[in-house]
Amino acid sequence: MTKSENKINLKSLDRNAPIGVFDSGVGGLTVVREIIRQIPNEKIIYFGDTARVPYGNKSRETVIRFSQQIMRFLNTFDVKTIVVACNTASAYALDTLERDSNIPVIGVVKPGARLAAQVTKNGRIGVIATEATIGSRIYSQYIQELNQEVTIYGKACPLFVPLVEEGLLEDPVTDEIARRYLTELIDIDIDTLILGCTHYPLIRSTLGRIMGPGVTLVNPAYETARELKSMLAGMNLLSGESPKLGENKYQFFVSDKAEKFVVFANSIIKYGILSAKTIHIETY
Ligand code: DGL
Repeated sequence: MTKSENKINLKSLDRNAPIGVFDSGVGGLTVVREIIRQIPNEKIIYFGDTARVPYGNKSRETVIRFSQQIMRFLNTFDVKTIVVACNTASAYALDTLERDSNIPVIGVVKPGARLAAQVTKNGRIGVIATEATIGSRIYSQYIQELNQEVTIYGKACPLFVPLVEEGLLEDPVTDEIARRYLTELIDIDIDTLILGCTHYPLIRSTLGRIMGPGVTLVNPAYETARELKSMLAGMNLLSGESPKLGENKYQFFVSDKAEKFVVFANSIIKYGILSAKTIHIETY
């Protein structure tokens, strides 16, 4: 149950309304991809804060203020729920957004934490993420609420985001940097690794190869889409329509560089995303 659920009037929500999804930029598209796979009849309004990315090195106050503006923007579409498809915004702003919202809000951290707590066998879980997410200790907090016997090792990997954005998904440079970041997690014998940043599922094969077959990789994007589906089903809010592509099924908004976003988006979601609109998010 999300904190906002107790003040939600489910009857006032339209099951055929879109789902609002946001991220600091392009990374949240890994979550959109999973939502499209798992609940293909849903309409999606996506906002990527491409003018102000990255969030991973910003303060809590700033990330909360940005996230509140974005929530106000998404609410102008009468969305039925909001997915905070950014680990950093989930770490810093989810509580505030849930408090402010009268529609359900879900983040990406809890679903990933839940699966990791379930799958670990030796009780040693690694989390890789931005500096902000690691510094917030949010994954440790959630996992330990579920299982106090587990030890969590966090490692900030700030170079992964620019490497992914440069398209260096399978590249010796990414390999080398990943090895340097991950060596200490290999040395302490973790058996589960949470990919705690939206960009990391895109270098999953590199990370899996370096960690080896004994380590289970947890993708919070996949888990979030699963939880979203079951939450909507539980509230009787799954779409009753099957909108076609092109009928405003997926709409994308950014705060800067719409053309660059479209190129990246098409490399992640193979649905011929033709355009994204640039908006002034500061005015919300
Ligand atoms: N989307 C961010 C996250 O998942 C990564 C990029 C950023 O630092 O804004 O933490």
